[in-house]
This record gives sequence, structure tokens and C-alpha cells, in this order.
Amino acid sequence: MQIGIFENAEQAGQKAAEMIAQVVGDNPQAILGVATGSTPDPLYAQLRSWHKDGKLDLSACQAYALDEYVGIAVDHPERYRNVLLKNLVWENATGLKAENLHTLDGNSTDLAQAAQSYDSEIQALGGVDIQILGIGSDGHIAFNEPGGSLTSRTHIEVLTEQTRKDNARFFNDDIDQVPTHCLTQGMGTIMSAKAIVLLATGAGKAQAVKQLCEGAVSAFWPATILQMHNNVTVLVDEAAASKLELKEYYCERWSKL
Ligand code: PGA
Repeated sequence: MQIGIFENAEQAGQKAAEMIAQVVGDNPQAILGVATGSTPDPLYAQLRSWHKDGKLDLSACQAYALDEYVGIAVDHPERYRNVLLKNLVWENATGLKAENLHTLDGNSTDLAQAAQSYDSEIQALGGVDIQILGIGSDGHIAFNEPGGSLTSRTHIEVLTEQTRKDNARFFNDDIDQVPTHCLTQGMGTIMSAKAIVLLATGAGKAQAVKQLCEGAVSAFWPATILQMHNNVTVLVDEAAASKLELKEYYCERWSKL
């Protein structure tokens, strides 16, 4: 696990964008794993800016989303498909085509089947080339909440009260409007990615980042499973890094690699 500590969220996002640009530069048909939430906003802004300047083009890429709310209205702005369309597709944002943006169908009449077929698709690809991740304050990645299987495949999940509180800001600050269930890539699915870049910014993530980098691998802090992956880069700002015990060493190692 490489840990990069940056002055602010924009710089961490910029580094993540550089890592994506490198993968797409090497293979214009790269398969990207894309995250939602507010953390990747600076990253997506950078991708859009490079696309506008003609420096980056995702038109031959495929992208797979991590998760989706169950039962959210198709035109709801917080439906993750809509969030990703807005960030990466609409108005020729990055060149990514709508038909190449793959998302889970949280309105399927057979959610288990929707989860399974999505997982099979990713499995058939041998995992995505580069997966962007955020992290929940409770240590979830995608929507794999504490106490789940560390080898799960794509499945239906019940959101924790903490996650629904954290996400209420996207739903008029009303927790009752936040869906209770979701479909999420499983931990095993995420671990099949060839490279993983986890972004975490803000003091609210400091404890989760501490556990992710320095805690014992445990279903209580699901993100800790990433310690078992051989190509993970954690990009954090100073606030999210504030609880790391070996912070100085991580900085030294980052500067010398
Ligand atoms: P956030 O969400 O980027 O909005 O903090 C991250 C997550 O819940 O995975």
C-alpha cells in the first residue's frame, strides 16, 4: 500500500487524475472503476478539464460504477447513474459514452439477479484496470458496511445509520429520504481490480484512514481488506492523514519512490 499525503483535497484529486490518465494513455480502451460521493469531485473536475483541453479522451473506455441505491427514482439527481452521467458523460464531459457507463439497476424487479449479472460481467473482464474508491466514515468501501464478508461478490446491502446520516446532505438533510438499501460491488469484486486508488479527504475520514492503513484486517473496518491487495495507492489530505502514526515514514517513502 502506497500512501500519498497532500496539502489539500484538490492536490490528492489531481494525483488520482494523473494515475487514471496514465492508464488511459497506455490503453485507450481501459476499463475504469468509478466511485460516487463528494470525494472524487476534484478528480472528475480535472478529467473534464483535460478533456476540454484535448489532453485526455475517455471515448474508448468502459466504466463500471461501484454501487447504486435501491428504489431511487430514475430521474433523481442522487441516483448514482445520474451522478456519474453528470460528472463524466453529459455535455461530452470526458468523452465517456453513456452506453459505456455500466451501473447497477437498483430498480430491477430481481435485485439479486441484477447484482449477479453485473458481477459476472466484471468477472468476465478479469476485473477493472483501475478502480477509484472513496471510504465511508465507518470504513465502508463501495457500500460494503461493517460486519460483512470480506470476500463477497456484488450483492444487496442494508445501509448503516451512520452512512445514511453521512449521505443525508444529498437528500435535503433528511435521513428519511436516504434509501435504506443498495446494490454494491462486493469486497471480492473490488479486490479483483488490477489497481486501486483510494481517495480520502477531510477530518471526518481520519479514523477510517487510520484503520485502513494501520489497523488489523477486520470486517469491522471493511476497507482494511485492501491491505491484502498488491497494487493499492491511498491518496489523502492532511486532515484525513491526521491520525496516522507512521505519517512521516509514509511521506519519506512516497518522496523516494
Ligand atoms: P464521500 O463518500 O466521498 O461522499 O465522503 C465516500 C463513501 O461513502 O464511500
